[in-house]
Amino acid sequence: MPMRLGAKKVMIDLYKTVLPLSLLLLFSGCNEKPSKHYDGKKLLEQKCSSCHNIDLPPYTFENEKAPPMMAVAFHVVNFVKTNDESQRVLKSKEFVNDYVLNPSASKSFCDKESLESYGVMPSQKGKITPDELEAVSDYIFEHFTQQNLMKAQKEKREFDALPAGKKLALKYKCLGCHRVDKKIIGPSFKDIAKKYPHAKEKIIKSITKGSKAQWKSSNGAIMPPFKNIDKKELQTLSEWILKS
Ligand code: HEC
Ligand code: HEC
Repeated sequence: MPMRLGAKKVMIDLYKTVLPLSLLLLFSGCNEKPSKHYDGKKLLEQKCSSCHNIDLPPYTFENEKAPPMMAVAFHVVNFVKTNDESQRVLKSKEFVNDYVLNPSASKSFCDKESLESYGVMPSQKGKITPDELEAVSDYIFEHFTQQNLMKAQKEKREFDALPAGKKLALKYKCLGCHRVDKKIIGPSFKDIAKKYPHAKEKIIKSITKGSKAQWKSSNGAIMPPFKNIDKKELQTLSEWILKS
């Protein structure tokens, strides 16, 4: 039946031209890899942080289950084999993408002693998809860099040098609503110190119970109670406010 054959031929032609074209559009359409749709940072937390510490700079524990992720990233990027230096990060990502699914003592860059104490990483096959893994390794080599480490160390030095009261104000996010010498949502700490000179207990009570309608300048904004600050911290925080 010539009609049907003709129809079939059209279909085949369609498959030959339209389909590859649409596939091409699908994959290159937005110039994006599928892994771009995943949040590598979140996935790293979900899929890797039960064993690897993911802080930068990292914490190390006595009985840690695995090397910190920063150490992993630095290992891999330094030890991965490549003839072309411009491909080093790419090769590092490929190494991670492979290692997570197919780990082995012979591939690991850990020194023998660490490898013996940690044991080889268990394969994460079935626990992470290839696209998710690609997003994780993209994030690892963007985030755990020498440059970000230096930045984080500088921030830590600056934080360590702050007065203890200010550290607590940062820790409990007081500075989201207060500044030392400027009213924002809440009154400035200078104005608070001026209004209640030496009244440490009064300040502590306001922090733990919250505050409303005490400051016209705040236009009805309310301060929530902070119930989880311990006694010693309350002393330090209120003394710091009174000195501002
Ligand atoms: C169940 C614990 C566990 C989980 C979950 C885990 N790892 Fe590991 N990983 C280890 C241990 C232990 C080692 C060290 C021994 C080794 O090199 O195999 C390791 C080593 C590695 C290495 C090789 C490091 C080197 O220096 O050679 C890479 C790369 C790695 N992990 C990436 C990841 C990524 C990415 C994730 C999350 C997707 C992840 N791991 C999740 C336990 C884990
Ligand atoms: C969500 C915003 C917000 C946060 C966060 C916040 N405050 Fe306040 N704070 C306010 C506002 C608004 C007022 C003024 C409310 C009023 O009119 O009584 C205020 C008032 C105060 C007062 C004076 C209370 C009084 O009795 O006159 C103190 C002291 C104070 N805040 C300390 C702190 C400290 C310390 C922290 C962190 C632990 C903190 N605040 C966090 C909004 C905030």
